[in-house]
Formats: sequence, C-alpha cells, structure tokens
Amino acid sequence: DTICSVAREAGLTLTEFAQRIGRSQQTLEELTAELSIGETYFFREPAHFEILRKHVFDQWARDCSQPLTIWSAACASGEEPYSAAIVAHEAGLGDRVRIIGTDISHRALTKAREAVYRPWSLRGLAADRARPYLAPQPDGRWKVKRRIREMVTFDRLNLANDPYPAVSRGLVDVQVIFCRNVLIYFDPDVIAAVARKLYDTLAPGGWLFLGASDPSLARHAPFELVMTDGGIAYRKSTARRIDVRPGRTQGVTEPRASALPVASERAPQGSSPRCAPSGDSAGSASGQAAGLGADDRRPSGAGKECGDVAVRPDKGTGVGGEVVESLRKALQEGDYEHVLRATEGMVGGEVAALRVRALAGLDPAAARTLCERLLSADPLNVPLRYVQALVLLDLGESTLALQALHRVLFLSRDEVEALFTLATIQDRLGNREEAAKALRTAESLCARRDPDERLPLGDGATVREMIAAIQRHPAYPASGFS
Ligand SMILES: C[S@@+](CC[C@H](N)C(=O)[O-])C[C@H]1O[C@@H](n2cnc3c(N)ncnc32)[C@H](O)[C@@H]1O
Repeated sequence: DTICSVAREAGLTLTEFAQRIGRSQQTLEELTAELSIGETYFFREPAHFEILRKHVFDQWARDCSQPLTIWSAACASGEEPYSAAIVAHEAGLGDRVRIIGTDISHRALTKAREAVYRPWSLRGLAADRARPYLAPQPDGRWKVKRRIREMVTFDRLNLANDPYPAVSRGLVDVQVIFCRNVLIYFDPDVIAAVARKLYDTLAPGGWLFLGASDPSLARHAPFELVMTDGGIAYRKSTARRIDVRPGRTQGVTEPRASALPVASERAPQGSSPRCAPSGDSAGSASGQAAGLGADDRRPSGAGKECGDVAVRPDKGTGVGGEVVESLRKALQEGDYEHVLRATEGMVGGEVAALRVRALAGLDPAAARTLCERLLSADPLNVPLRYVQALVLLDLGESTLALQALHRVLFLSRDEVEALFTLATIQDRLGNREEAAKALRTAESLCARRDPDERLPLGDGATVREMIAAIQRHPAYPASGFS
C-alpha cells in the first residue's frame, strides 16, 4: 500500500516507479522514509525540554505577549512536538505557543495526526512526564489528550529539497527548532544548505536543538553555541535587534542572517511587468493609508545609477526565464553569493527582487538599503516591494513592513501572499480583526483561482496550499468566514 501511494503521488505507475527508483536517489530516499517510521519517543533527550522550559518559556512568559512558534523539523510520528506542547502547557503558555511538526513521510504524519501511541513510545527515561496528558485506549494504547493535540499542526516538508523559511507554512521567525536525529541521513552539501536554511528560519535569539549524534552546524552558519546546565544548544544571535536604521549601524557587525522565505525552484508566473495601479485602485484607501506619495505612483525613467548597481527598471526583465529559475534555485539552496555574482549588472524587474533576497541572506541591513535604492528607481516593482516587506520584517520593523505590504496591495490588490503576510504581522501585533479581514480577502481571491496555480511572490506555494495555510492561520475563525 505504501509503495502504491508513493508511486501515485509521483504520478507514476508501479512499473515506472520501479524504474525511477533505479535512477533517482531522491525517489529512493522518499521511499525509504515512507517504509521506515523514524525512531522516536516522548521526551527523548530530556535536557532539551529542560532548556525549553527554563530558558525559553520562562523568559517568554515574563517578557513577551506575542505568540511563540516551535518547529519540529523531522517529527516522525509526533512524540517530539507533543512533548514540546506538554512543556508549553505546563508553563501556562498553551494558548500562546504554536507548534508545527513536519516530516518527509506521509505515513509518519498520519500517525502523528492520529496521536495514538503504543507503550513503546513511552520508553524513554523522562517519558512518564507525558502520562497525565495521555488517555488510555481499550486496546492498551494511549491517545494524546485534545488540549495538547490542538496545539500542534502537521505538514509534509522535505528538509533537503523544499523551500524554507516559508511564510505560507508559518515557518518564518520561528523561536525554537527541533531538528534532531535527521541530519545524519544527509550528504555534507545538503547538511550545509539545511544549516543555512534553518538559521534563516529562526527568529533573532531563536534556539535550535540537534540530536546528540548529529553533525555540528556551527561552521555552516553563524550560530552561537550555548552551554547550559541542561546541555548544549545552538542560538541565532540577537544582534540584529540592534537599531539598524540608516546611519545607526556603524560599528555593528551584523551576523550572517536572514529570515526571508526563499523563492521556489519552480518556474515563475511569467516575466511580464507586475501591475501598474489600475484606475480604480489608484486612489484606494490602502494606498493612502500607506502614505504612498505621488512620486511613488509615477514610473521612473530609464537607467539610474544606485550605489554599486546600475539600475534599469527593465519591466520585461530582458532576463530569460531559465536564468530566473536558476537564480531561484540557487536562492533556495542558500547560495547567496552565486545569486549576487550572477545578477551583477543585470538588475531589472523580478531579478531585482532576487538580488535583494540574496543580499538579505548575507547582510539584511545592506539588503534593506539596496532595496530602497532599487525601489526609488522602480517604484512600481511589485516583487521588489514585497521583498522589502520581508526584509523589514526580518529586521524586526513590523510597522514599516506593514506599510510596504500596503504598497504592494495598492499596486496590485490581488496579491494573496501579501495579504497573508499582512495577516501574520497584524496577528503578531495583536490586531486579530485586521488579520482576519486580510485572511478573508485572501481566501475569497483564492476561491476564484485555479487551485494548482503557483503564487508568484513568495516561496512557490500553490493556491491550494495557500488556502490550507489561510485556514490554519491562528486568526482564521473556527467556523470559517460565512
Ligand atoms: C529518527 S527520526 C527523528 C524523530 C525525532 N526528531 C527524534 O529525534 O526523536 C528521523 C525522521 O526524519 C525523517 N526524515 C528523513 N529524511 C527527511 C527529510 N529529507 N526531510 C524531512 N524529514 C526527513 C524521517 O521520516 C524520520 O521520521
């Protein structure tokens, strides 16, 4: 059954699938993952859950009113994210902590969602801690109680190939990542790329837990190693919280960091210019609310020198779709230097946005400055405006990020990804109603589109995936929008 369903998902007959396995390492890896559910149990490596309680939750409960996201990045059958949920619940943070479990294996995820476990899942030394949250079943198994289950959502994600950070999956600015006992399966190149992508997904000050036998990630991304009485963990520096407004960064060494959702490796939606304002939106409330000046609405002339880059607002890009796709792929793999080298002197429409994303992977403050310069020459560039919002968000400038998103929507009011990101920021700022309003608009826009269409601005999500993300957003009403 499992082999049939993996083949079906790949759109192949069993014979074609068998041939593919012989040729493709990736297919073989996916099949292996499907056939073996990873070894895991409740409160495995209990020291990590102690750090979570003592160093993360206690401080969060004291200092922050915002929600906190935890990502269990190879969660297998779910014991790991449910253990984190139990600790959050006990810390009184049950309704402020959101836990996302992902894995490559559908079978493991099905088991995780069912949340019914044999006593074998409670074999760890600290697993007894889970018992009060498990209800005995007639067949001798245990089911995780509803209040813990409801704190966790599950999603399929291949750490080696899928893009992240990923706004549409909620995997951006994550405060805690568990990525334990999975890196051992990867080649050195993949480990390096995963390290950078995990780093980019963490919020400043965020924590990463690896398994005891996992390879070190310290040389692939600028993590800080933290020794606590509960063991070792990695952290992303909080240095980026230093005021980064222009003129205030002198003397500050910015760590290599970015929380940008990277582009998908899939083809973009065409390279045509993305939307001048239509007649009826030119005076829209959102544009005025964003403080969009008259100059912003006027297309600039051709060619303008901006620092080290000759900026040509090349609306048709002039750059071939294949080149754009290879740049997206390099971004997804975290090869920012390559993208910067390859886009030197060929900055235009979408390429400008890719260049800023790449720079944000190395130096977010510099990316912000570059983005502002590029936008002053090309103010109607929608992908670039959207990237500006993400860079600002990455730098902790939520209000400015909101303004940038309003400008995106002023220029092109159907940008579902901009609406979704806007909802996420509004929700984090405690503006539930505004968040719900944006989600409602996004959902109704999605309903009019082909579910398999790829959305153009963010991490390559389809309309169908976006609808699912909207519906599991914390600000989405339980009964839906009527
Ligand atoms: C040993 S389990 C680890 C479970 C849990 N993190 C723990 O430490 O107890 C490894 C998990 O990694 C998953 N896995 C393997 N390759 C993966 C990939 N490329 N992306 C995401 N998950 C993957 C497997 O399906 C399996 O569920």
